[in-house]
Amino acid sequence: MSTPTAPPEVGSSPKPEFVTTKKPSMISIDELVKIMEANTLQDDPREKRTERSSKLVKAYLIKNEPEFVRVMGFRDRGWMQNKDKGDAFFKAQRERADNADVSGEQKFFRMMIQIADEMNGLTGALSPQTARGPNMKVLDICMAPGGYTAAVLKFNPRASTFAITLPKDQGGHPIHIERSRLAGLQLLDVTMLVNEYTDKPIPPNHPDREKFLTIRPFRFHSFDLVFCDGMVLRTQQREDYREKNEVIRLSTSQLILAMQRIKPGGTLVMLLHKIDSFPAANILHIFSKFAKVEAFKPQKKHATRSSFYMIAKDVQAGHEAAKAVVEEWREAWWKATFGGETGTGEPKLDPPESVVLNMLEEFGEQLMEMGRPVWRTQGDALSRTEYAGDGSIVRSDNAVGLSNAVKPSPWRDLRESLKENVPLPNSRSPVGSSSWRALRENVPPQSTASPITPSPWDVVRESLKDRVPPQSSTSPTPLNKDLEDI
Ligand SMILES: C[S@@+](CC[C@H](N)C(=O)[O-])C[C@H]1O[C@@H](n2cnc3c(N)ncnc32)[C@H](O)[C@@H]1O
Repeated sequence: MSTPTAPPEVGSSPKPEFVTTKKPSMISIDELVKIMEANTLQDDPREKRTERSSKLVKAYLIKNEPEFVRVMGFRDRGWMQNKDKGDAFFKAQRERADNADVSGEQKFFRMMIQIADEMNGLTGALSPQTARGPNMKVLDICMAPGGYTAAVLKFNPRASTFAITLPKDQGGHPIHIERSRLAGLQLLDVTMLVNEYTDKPIPPNHPDREKFLTIRPFRFHSFDLVFCDGMVLRTQQREDYREKNEVIRLSTSQLILAMQRIKPGGTLVMLLHKIDSFPAANILHIFSKFAKVEAFKPQKKHATRSSFYMIAKDVQAGHEAAKAVVEEWREAWWKATFGGETGTGEPKLDPPESVVLNMLEEFGEQLMEMGRPVWRTQGDALSRTEYAGDGSIVRSDNAVGLSNAVKPSPWRDLRESLKENVPLPNSRSPVGSSSWRALRENVPPQSTASPITPSPWDVVRESLKDRVPPQSSTSPTPLNKDLEDI
């Protein structure tokens, strides 16, 4: 995602209110190096590498946020120590998703309705927020199978719903909501709406020039609620050159379109991944300048994943900060689509450290407030999996509901030593030189899978195991609820 080069004027923009008792400590580069030494910071088995900007964010969170420290323990176990089991689990999940039959698709549709129900119950995102009231207009970008739109119509039968989604014959999900319930539907690839995203002409030498779409869907409407729930699909038929930049193309496309259609004071809901990565944290930070922002993660569905939703209410697309960032997204879409030597897109550069540190300085505290329930949900779910957990729910030392009697985590030593900037007391790190190399060269740290070295996180879990009674709300359920996910 594009990052602001200079912080725009924010004037009297609405800001979320957070009550905090003490300022979190900032992270320095020296501290990042120390944390890297003690920790892989690898958080997704499918990721080839973690960008340095995201490493900085994670290091800051390790220093300041126990709930994040806890989830890193489970990720470390699932992604690194039990890599084979974790890989097998994700492979099976991918295969099920890519080969869903009709009953699987219907299940997915119902699951999306349930997520929307839970989202509305917790955040009110699907309820009218603007003067248009129950006659609200809704734009669902990347709509199929249509669970969110179905949920909107259940809560607001007088709403007018408009949708854009990838056609099935291009690999998009099939539509399960009745089409007659929609006020408008455009079946197209949202990343190709060239006239929405740039004023410049399509470069004449582009190999797929004729595939770009010049229409501007629902241009004369403004929407009270906009969903951006797109996910780059493995099943979409795309030219090879698109692979490297598709994530940024899809996210910028949705964001620009949403901001160009949303009504002042409207609500924007967007699927994001990894609240502890720079791109996601940065989006939340940017939106907090011109909207009231919350993070929502369903308790059960996709709970082991790092995905979550940004709920941005009272979005003011006319705010200077909003206009500035839309310009940056338009530039980012152009570079990802037409940049580079071949004119078919160039990779996005990681932002300079100063930009990341500035974001953390301004927004780190709020990021932790927003992230806490997200990490807690993922941590609880991972603790119940075969590949990452041990079947018990173990909360971090400062986390809600934990008795004071709980033994301190070795990671607290790490945090304390960083605060004081003193050497670590006998680091129990499973990773040493590989992390140094990973930091220097920005490559994935070596797996510790073979032979399996006990992780410090295991020590934490072992030490807490007998002390924390299982909690009824999170009592072990059949392993991997996500197995049912499509
Ligand atoms: C997670 S599903 C959305 C589920 C939906 N929110 C619901 O409630 O049913 C992701 C959707 O993004 C769509 N999608 C992915 N890439 C797209 C693209 N380039 N243009 C339009 N839609 C796209 C997929 O076809 C799929 O329908």
